Amino acid sequence: MGKILKEKEIIAIGGGKGGVGKSFLASNLGIILAKNQIKTVLVDADLGGANLHTCLGIQAPEVTLSDFVNNTNVRIEDVVLRTSLDNLMLISGAQDFLGIANPKYSQKLRLVRAIENLNVRYIILDLGAGTSNNTLDFFLLADRGVLMVLPEPTSIENAYRFIKSALYRKLRMLTREPQVRAVIEKAMDKKNDLGIQSPIDLIDHISNLNPRLGLQLEEALNSFRPAIVLNQVRSMADVRIGFSMQSACKKFFGLQVDYLGYIENDDQVWQSIRKRQPITLNGDHGKSVRNLRSISYNLLHNLQLKME
Ligand SMILES: Nc1ncnc2c1ncn2[C@@H]1O[C@H](COP(=O)(O)OP(=O)(O)O)[C@@H](O)[C@H]1O
Ligand SMILES: [Mg+2]
Repeated sequence: MGKILKEKEIIAIGGGKGGVGKSFLASNLGIILAKNQIKTVLVDADLGGANLHTCLGIQAPEVTLSDFVNNTNVRIEDVVLRTSLDNLMLISGAQDFLGIANPKYSQKLRLVRAIENLNVRYIILDLGAGTSNNTLDFFLLADRGVLMVLPEPTSIENAYRFIKSALYRKLRMLTREPQVRAVIEKAMDKKNDLGIQSPIDLIDHISNLNPRLGLQLEEALNSFRPAIVLNQVRSMADVRIGFSMQSACKKFFGLQVDYLGYIENDDQVWQSIRKRQPITLNGDHGKSVRNLRSISYNLLHNLQLKME
């Protein structure tokens, strides 16, 4: 089945925890696309922990996202920065996060719509840690949501929590009916007294209250297709975690999750960050560079890792 090519695509990179490599993936993905002559803008949407500029080896910029969010006279073009690559642009994150750490939904929408009007093919959003509504909203506004996961129980657990929270938020945003919203909120807690154990139970429950809405929620569930990337893997067993996460998401959430690939644990990664020289910029050929290329390829071609 051919994929309908959108003129522009927004890719959001999230993950339940800090320090899992979101900014590392976002920056290098941007560089790989730009080096392939694909116009890309990187957006530091980590409101409160912005450091994407550092991953790109750029000094803390004067104009940032907060100028755009806080002032409706500022155009998005005014906060777009050039990088050392022709096809790569950066919108840096807010430094003074207090002002915008909690933008309203309408502000987020204005931001996303403005970014979509930029003359680029790909928009990569580097998200903050955690499952705040902000992070979830950006993840849901994107065409593709990618979750960075480490092969550690805590990170895996966080990833499941993130996927579940994003899904329930997506469902909740579909309706204004207080009664239905209350059911969805209750369902978030596994010990709820409605006996709802999974998104599928939830949809059944809501279909009984309101069949039309039930159908809408079912459609939303089927169209929610997050992707995962395993980072800092050290063994084949680590790589296989991605496949087991796929099966678990299918079984417990009724969700199709794409496994885009993995990145090996590689000393070159932290060394490159210390030197402020992105690993894919200078012709390094290490294992993590190969891994990043194959993830980019899968992302661009709508492919995923296959079990050997
Ligand atoms: N594949 C890897 N191998 C080795 N170290 C890594 C790898 N990926 C990330 N790191 C380390 O993890 C740190 C945190 O990455 P970062 O992208 O800043 O995380 P996040 O944006 O999720 O908070 C990096 O500075 C780097 O030292
Ligand atoms: Mg980061």
